Amino acid sequence: MVQSNINLYYKNVMADVIGDEHGITPEQLKDLAEETTPLISKLNKERQGGETPYRDLPYNTQISQQVKELVKELKGRCENLVVFGIGGSALGSIALQTALNPYMHNLDDTQRTGPRFFVFDNIDPAQLVSFLKWLEKSGSLSKTIFNVISKSGQAAETMSQFMIVHRLCSEKQIITTTDANRGILRRITHSAGFKSLIVPKGIGGRFSVLSAVGLFSAAMCGIDIDSLLEGARDMDTRVKSEDFFKNPAAINAAINYHFYNRGKKISVMMPYSYHLKDLSDWYRQLWAESLGKAEDLAGNEVHIGPTPVKALGTTDQHSQVQLYREGPNDKLFTFLQVRNFDKDIKIGPAPDCASELGFFAGKDLSKLLNNEKRATEYALLESERPCLTVLFDRVNAYTVGQFVYLYEVTTSFAGALFGINPYDQPAVELGKEATFALMGKPGDEYEEFAQRINSLTEVDESFLV
Ligand code: PA5
Repeated sequence: MVQSNINLYYKNVMADVIGDEHGITPEQLKDLAEETTPLISKLNKERQGGETPYRDLPYNTQISQQVKELVKELKGRCENLVVFGIGGSALGSIALQTALNPYMHNLDDTQRTGPRFFVFDNIDPAQLVSFLKWLEKSGSLSKTIFNVISKSGQAAETMSQFMIVHRLCSEKQIITTTDANRGILRRITHSAGFKSLIVPKGIGGRFSVLSAVGLFSAAMCGIDIDSLLEGARDMDTRVKSEDFFKNPAAINAAINYHFYNRGKKISVMMPYSYHLKDLSDWYRQLWAESLGKAEDLAGNEVHIGPTPVKALGTTDQHSQVQLYREGPNDKLFTFLQVRNFDKDIKIGPAPDCASELGFFAGKDLSKLLNNEKRATEYALLESERPCLTVLFDRVNAYTVGQFVYLYEVTTSFAGALFGINPYDQPAVELGKEATFALMGKPGDEYEEFAQRINSLTEVDESFLV
């Protein structure tokens, strides 16, 4: 069988297509190649020196073996799999399920080969109460596995969700995924004897989807994790290439970097496929948390970072494209397009009274979708807006594995080009600590902190209108 692949198509960012003012000229592309090429060997060396352990996840057979053993043990007694996690501990799992399982996975027993799948990456009480009520009424609470995922083992959201369900279910129903040694969740795991998986050392949440963080729920719900990892490994051979023009991650990062430096600071990812829609959500976190930084590597204040925006074709043609074409020319667009849909459906005949619709009749719905993508791209090009496309031969575990790895490594290249550290997220910590203070975490420092937060955020009635 011929392997499906993904490819980055970059013709429509070039000056030949959208003009010199907004497009990349051949000279500029040459300069980008010169600036980026040394970074390819730099990143390859960092990887060999163990500085970017996420790069080696696709080769880690120990993790996939552990995951498969646990899945074998649990699958027969699990009707519902619930993930409690947030940010990097949830978005990858959601993206894999949306991409690779049928739309009706949860509702149609004949369309799934694993448990129903739910992710709570938010803490709206009404949402959780409604779900728990359903679990109780459906009689499937005892056949529900809760996968509590937190690298730090102390995210307020995830730990609160855990504390709510812990009293409702047995210890056998909880699987934790957390740091091997550190954190409150690891301590609880030891003490309660929960079955557990590991978030590998040195891998931040947003780079962890190919570890047990994403693989466990994927494998439980019938996704072929071997193909997923194989796709990532095959992309690895491409993104290691020292030839800039053969390296899709290097080119992708360089193009994004170029446009950011020329005032296109917004990066819109727009899949033309429902199944790919949550990959753009996953990308949004990866790009934002990795590249939005106050300081460069030398400690200079830079406040840098492209703003990632997710959109969905064709849905957002009817909500965003007016702005994208006629608003400020400050965006780079990346479409995700599927060449071959595994399932298709023909458009039926036009009603007698509407013969003007007849030209749609008998055509594949996928043809309409892909032509709408091309139509939107064309309209943007007419307005001199740069457009990239990631072309998927097909959507399957192998191509999704390629995509995940492509964008993780693109992020590393972009970090290197911007001269910042893409692997930390210092700005997120303050809000987390502030939450602890407001929730009454003991300690003098937290009491003082809470007073300061209250002075700034308590509602001042005199400003209410
Ligand atoms: O990418 C990241 O590091 C973050 O998005 C984290 O995944 C997120 O904040 C959740 O943290 P934790 O996994 O420690 O609960």
